[in-house]
Amino acid sequence: MSGESKKKILVVDDEKYITDLLNELLSVEYTVECANDGVAAFNKINNGTYDLVLSDISMPNLDGIELLRLIRNSQPNLSVVMMSGLATTDNVIDALNLGAAFFIKKPFKVNQVLDSIKAKLGRVQTEKGAQDSEAIITDINYLILSNNYGKMNEIKTVLPVCNEIYYEILKDEKTVKNLVKIKQFDDAIYRHSLDVGIIASIICAFRRVKAGTLKTITLGGFVHDIGKLNVDYNILNKSEKLTPEEFEQIKMHTFFGHNILLEENFPEEIAEIAFKHHEKLDGSGYPRGYTEYGIDPASQFIAVCDIYSALTEKRPYRKKLTPNEALELIHKDFQNKINFEIVKLLKLFIDG
Ligand SMILES: [Fe+2]
Ligand SMILES: [Fe+2]
Repeated sequence: MSGESKKKILVVDDEKYITDLLNELLSVEYTVECANDGVAAFNKINNGTYDLVLSDISMPNLDGIELLRLIRNSQPNLSVVMMSGLATTDNVIDALNLGAAFFIKKPFKVNQVLDSIKAKLGRVQTEKGAQDSEAIITDINYLILSNNYGKMNEIKTVLPVCNEIYYEILKDEKTVKNLVKIKQFDDAIYRHSLDVGIIASIICAFRRVKAGTLKTITLGGFVHDIGKLNVDYNILNKSEKLTPEEFEQIKMHTFFGHNILLEENFPEEIAEIAFKHHEKLDGSGYPRGYTEYGIDPASQFIAVCDIYSALTEKRPYRKKLTPNEALELIHKDFQNKINFEIVKLLKLFIDG
């Protein structure tokens, strides 16, 4: 360890026992400095170099959100992690808007803090990969804040868990590279892909599914339509009714996606999602017409999120629906086709 320089963390909290505790915990691996309010912290940041700031929100003199705002003006790339016991929706939104890396909810578990900080600081990425992954995180946060994912008050309680998974997923260079490819190909498909992953992650986090499953389903959502990269762009964006031949071409995106993901060494279950997300429980889907027993739960999950996302987005051939209109249409048109246990979960946070 002696030859390597330790990363430097600034811990900001007005409660001394918290700064003492975090100092003790983190100084095993990092160089730690502490400040007991936003003003003291900002002075230190202006006079020193830090790799990460871990800050409380409610503090006297200058609170955590104001501190974050000042940091964004002077050092836009400095990573800031917020902690709070009483985060209001406005606080969470402000912090995400200002590019906070993620939230740690107080009271926190020691291991959770260490893992989150390790994940943030220990990322082994090329500079380009890191920039691309930061840009994708910004796009995800923008979508969360601007889309109507439902009751923000409830959703904000799971955002810290979701954010950690997004970071975890975007540590992987091949995932970042492929999401960048989707973005360059078509911005609407890119937004839809992130949207499906976000919806899936929020539902899974509500259900407190295991981290591994949460990661699989979120990543599956992000790349489920990657096969569209191999479909004729004009057909994908055609606003008139598709001919049967054109629809056959669109269907091919499931095969293409499966192959691309396997070639790129994504796990089999992720490739499976790309392959089966248009299958229907009654056998009326594509590409194979599998019934319920042939469709794995993750693909059933993404199928629901995919339909909901598509209905609530504007498409070349129709206007976007409100969340409740989308749910109504799903109830009317998709009986026996998709898993309604998953629709019920979707409903929980849409209309409370
Ligand atoms: Fe699709
Ligand atoms: Fe899709």
